[in-house]
Amino acid sequence: MSAVFSETGRAEFDRLLTRYPDRKSVILPALHLAQKEFGYVSDEAIVYIAGLVGTSPAEIEGVATFYTMYNRKPVGKYHVQICRNISCSLLGAEHLIEHVSKKLGVRPGETTPDGKFTLATVECLGSCGTAPVMQVNDEYHENLTVESIDRILDRLP
Ligand code: FES
Repeated sequence: MSAVFSETGRAEFDRLLTRYPDRKSVILPALHLAQKEFGYVSDEAIVYIAGLVGTSPAEIEGVATFYTMYNRKPVGKYHVQICRNISCSLLGAEHLIEHVSKKLGVRPGETTPDGKFTLATVECLGSCGTAPVMQVNDEYHENLTVESIDRILDRLP
């Protein structure tokens, strides 16, 4: 798979360049853009961004693997990320993860055979006051219970 931004993506990248003091500063937003355009940050995307930013693929790879929000592998239609950090953990995140894992029939890091769901556990989603928290694609779901998780997942087309 070749990874090249669409015309819109390229225009967005060029716009990002005008907002930051130097090309290397756009690495994080460029990785977001790559994920949006390609669905995940492939090896080809790493090389492509390195070329655009003017640095080595190793440097881009280092950034992409440091942050959990960048997917280095393809994910399902719905990326279900459940926080397991301290606040969420104290309020039952482990139990919720176990529940979702059983419900979907996958372990964290896996995708359902139909490609609909990828389950992931992540560190703090930055909404500790409303723990436990789950992110499904771009949407946050807070104060979760087994019942509310079931409702949320069951209504996804
Ligand atoms: S600990 Fe889960 S959102 Fe912060």
